[in-house]
Amino acid sequence: MKKRGVFICIEGLDTSGKTTHARRLVRNLRKRGFDAIYTTEPSRGKIGRFVRKHILQRKKRVPSVVEALFFALDRVDHVEKRIKPALEEGKIVVSDRYVYSSLAYQGAAGLDLKWIEEINRLALPPNLAIYIDVPPEVVVERIKRKKSVMERLETQRRVREVYMKFVENGRLVPVNGNRTKDEVAKDILAVVLDFLKKV
Ligand SMILES: Nc1ncnc2c1ncn2[C@@H]1O[C@H](COP(=O)(O)OP(=O)(O)OP(=O)(O)O)[C@@H](O)[C@H]1O
Ligand SMILES: [Mg+2]
Repeated sequence: MKKRGVFICIEGLDTSGKTTHARRLVRNLRKRGFDAIYTTEPSRGKIGRFVRKHILQRKKRVPSVVEALFFALDRVDHVEKRIKPALEEGKIVVSDRYVYSSLAYQGAAGLDLKWIEEINRLALPPNLAIYIDVPPEVVVERIKRKKSVMERLETQRRVREVYMKFVENGRLVPVNGNRTKDEVAKDILAVVLDFLKKV
């Protein structure tokens, strides 16, 4: 029988450690003999590159509705071109951000969560979604030097509130990210290994 792939996403506020831990998780899984790959949103595809260049431009923000549609578009492209093919080969795919980032960021900007879910209906649901929880006050300190709209404490608070809704309804598994990198990495690996035992 063909091995089934597993799709995991890592979510969190800006500088919460998503890239650090998505990459460490892939290394840790590989060390244990799993075939794991790292991927990220916006994707490295054509649409993802367009999004990085034109939509994430801090100075010329586009309306949140346009942002949400572009992220959803890139997500479908990402799923079709990178995620699904890897899953079909039986790999573990670890995505640095996924649909919860759209829900949290564009939701925090005032868009209706149901509409964001609706435009993301074609995006493959992850098997496991982890939320690295770091207090907004801490991330604001970590990114103090970056001049971005997202860095504002109030913004980070609103984004965290939306993420926490999904922690509360069980769609995101929280990990306390306000500890050393080794402690956070150990917890994330434990959550994932526990999940892999059950699938
Ligand atoms: N547990 C931690 N304790 C202290 N610093 C950390 C911790 N985890 C990550 N960092 C530091 O915070 C910074 C941001 O980490 P990283 O790039 O992994 O976050 P991110 O969530 O991917 O950020 P972004 O949203 O900008 O992509 C890095 O300098 C990293 O070394
Ligand atoms: Mg990152």
